[in-house]
Parts: sequence; structure tokens; C-alpha cells
Amino acid sequence: MSIATREWQLVRRPHGKPVADDFRPVEAERPDPGPGEVVVRTIAMSVDPYMRGRMNATKSYAPSWELGETMQGGTVGQVIASRSDAVPEGALVLHGMGWRDVAVLDAGHVSVVEPLPGLPLSLYLGVLGMPGLTAWAGLFRVAAFSPGDAVFVSGAAGAVGSLVGQFARLRGASRVVGSAGTPEKVRWLGDELGFSAAFDYHDGAVADLLAAAAPEGIDVFFDNVGGEHLEAAIAAFNLHGRAAVCGAISSYNAVSAPPGPRNMFLLVGKRLTLRGFLVGDHADLQPEFVETVSGWLRDGSLVARETVVEGLDGAVDAFRDLLRGGNTGKMVVRLTPDPE
Ligand SMILES: NC(=O)c1ccc[n+]([C@@H]2O[C@H](COP(=O)([O-])OP(=O)(O)OC[C@H]3O[C@@H](n4cnc5c(N)ncnc54)[C@H](OP(=O)(O)O)[C@@H]3O)[C@@H](O)[C@H]2O)c1
Repeated sequence: MSIATREWQLVRRPHGKPVADDFRPVEAERPDPGPGEVVVRTIAMSVDPYMRGRMNATKSYAPSWELGETMQGGTVGQVIASRSDAVPEGALVLHGMGWRDVAVLDAGHVSVVEPLPGLPLSLYLGVLGMPGLTAWAGLFRVAAFSPGDAVFVSGAAGAVGSLVGQFARLRGASRVVGSAGTPEKVRWLGDELGFSAAFDYHDGAVADLLAAAAPEGIDVFFDNVGGEHLEAAIAAFNLHGRAAVCGAISSYNAVSAPPGPRNMFLLVGKRLTLRGFLVGDHADLQPEFVETVSGWLRDGSLVARETVVEGLDGAVDAFRDLLRGGNTGKMVVRLTPDPE
């Protein structure tokens, strides 16, 4: 008797903001695992901003998805059947075939992870996973942070941004400033994450809000948002300021090209560096990142918040909600509880 898997497919390329009809849930026959393959039940899957780019026909920083194809993404799961000696039944694994309740894939395409006593396995999709390494590589390598720097991070209450600000504080920043989209997020940044100052970017011109929050200027900017935020940071930079250009979520749903920063000439006089990066190029930092960040999690120095949507049925809504700021910390979709 055949067993079905439940999956989400992209059926239409979103025009602007994605709508529910751009996606469809399907049932597909689950193949039997071949030699060297494993069957993995999803525990939790990630929805991430880069997926919006994959829905367009043109390549963003990740290749496009085909229409009618099951979407993919970071997932943590448990092996429920195995034809691989390397990855036994019961193992906890990470893989990239999310948006489905069960995946059948080559054991070479999963990485085995350890249980996290007292902590949810979904942290492997956030603080201990791709967003965490993005924050680490962007701040410490790309922006060349050093103690005493004043740091500004946009999208500061999200998965990457909330870690950037905390990493900077823990490593001796002189000032950590964040921007976010609601008063609750702004309060959270100050009260619980220890940011020196934070503002809601809806409250006025970002340049004015940033100048008030960082009156002595900034040395490092970690940009998740782009557009007006980038222009404001260029204006606020001190001499030799460095920006890690991580993302530009303010333009991901744009249907025409947004205007660029109007003050690029300031790069000359201030000797600024703006450097784009992709986390995949910085995998060599993984050991130092995991060791330090696991320690901070264990000793309680780091807050790793998640916004959790329950059930595969909610995955599209979770993704759409992420793009409009419905998350604080990492947005994850949980399909099953962590194993005992
Ligand atoms: N370069 C890389 O390798 C790499 C890797 C991972 C992520 N990224 C990028 O890093 C950024 C953050 O990713 P994440 O996973 O941590 O997502 P996230 O920040 O957890 O979630 C997205 C957030 O973007 C904010 N947002 C949405 N529209 C906005 C707008 N018009 N202006 C300002 N903020 C807006 C929302 O928060 P508010 O309520 O504050 O608006 C929302 O919560 C994204 O740009 C992503 O593409 C890049």
C-alpha cells in the first residue's frame, strides 16, 4: 500500500506580496528509500526571506523555483527508516527539503545533529543554524567589528538582526542601536536584549531617528533592510565605517526597482566600505560560531526567541506573515513535537 506525503508547491509567481493562491498543498506518493537513502519525518521547518527571491523567474541570490515544484528549505527532523549505514534510524538530522511532512533523500544530503537538552531542536534553524552563522560572519568577518565600535542593525528584532545586536553587545560594542517595525519589538530590544537604543522606523525619517539614537555616529552597520535604512546609515557613519550588506527586505516584494541611496558620494570623504556577503561563503567559521554561541546559550547570556506556527497547513501563512513582520526572532513552523 502506498503512503502519501503532504507538501507545498509554488503554482504561480507572486506579483508583489505573495497571496495564498500562489501556493497549493498536494499529496504525493512517498517513494520507498533506495540504497543509501533515509526517510526523515519533519519536526520543524524554516521559512526565510530568501525564499521570496526564489519565487521570481529571475535568479536572486538563490536560483528560482520551478512552478509545480515542491518548495525547499531548512528542516530539522528524525530518521524514521534508513538504508544507510552512516545515518541510522532514530538519528536527528538537518536537511534542505522542507515544505513537506516527510522527505526521502540521500543520506549524504543530511547532517546529523545532537539533541539540545532543555532546548527545542528548532534552534538549529535559527540561532544555531543559518541565520546565526549569517549574523556571526557578517558582523565579525564582513564588517570587521572590533570592541568599542558603535553598531547599528536594521531588521533588529528578526532572526539575524536580534543575534547581531546581542553578539555586538557581548563582544564589547560601545553602543548597539536597532530598528524594527513595532513598538513591542522596540521595547523588547531595549528591555530584554540589552540594546542601547532602538526605534520604530515608521515613526519618522530613518536618518532622523538614527541620528537621535546614535548621536556620536556609527562605525558598523549590519543591513537587513536596504533602501532608506542604507541611506541613513551612510549619513550616520563615522570615518572608516563598515557595512555588512546582508539583505534588503524592504524591496523583496517591489514590482519596480527601488531608488538607490542618494548619498553614495559620502563613501569617498568618509572612506567607507560597503560589503555584500552570502553566508554560504563563510562555512569555515562554523566551528568557532557553534562553540561560542552554544556557550552563550548555555550560560544564559543570549536570548534566542522564536515565533512558532503549528502545523504544515500554516506554512504559507507563516511565510507571508514573516514578510510583513509577524515574527519576533526566528519564524519556524513546527510539525511534530521534539522526540523525548
Ligand atoms: N546574505 C545572506 O547570506 C543572508 C542569510 C540570511 C538572511 N539574509 C537576509 O537577512 C535579512 C533578515 O533575514 P531573517 O531571516 O533574519 O528575517 P527576519 O528579520 O526574521 O524577518 C523578516 C523581517 O523583515 C522586516 N521587514 C519586512 N518588511 C520590511 C520593510 N519594508 N522595512 C523594514 N523591515 C521590514 C520584518 O520586521 P519588522 O516588523 O521590523 O518590519 C520581518 O520580521 C533578510 O534581508 C534576508 O534576506 C541574508
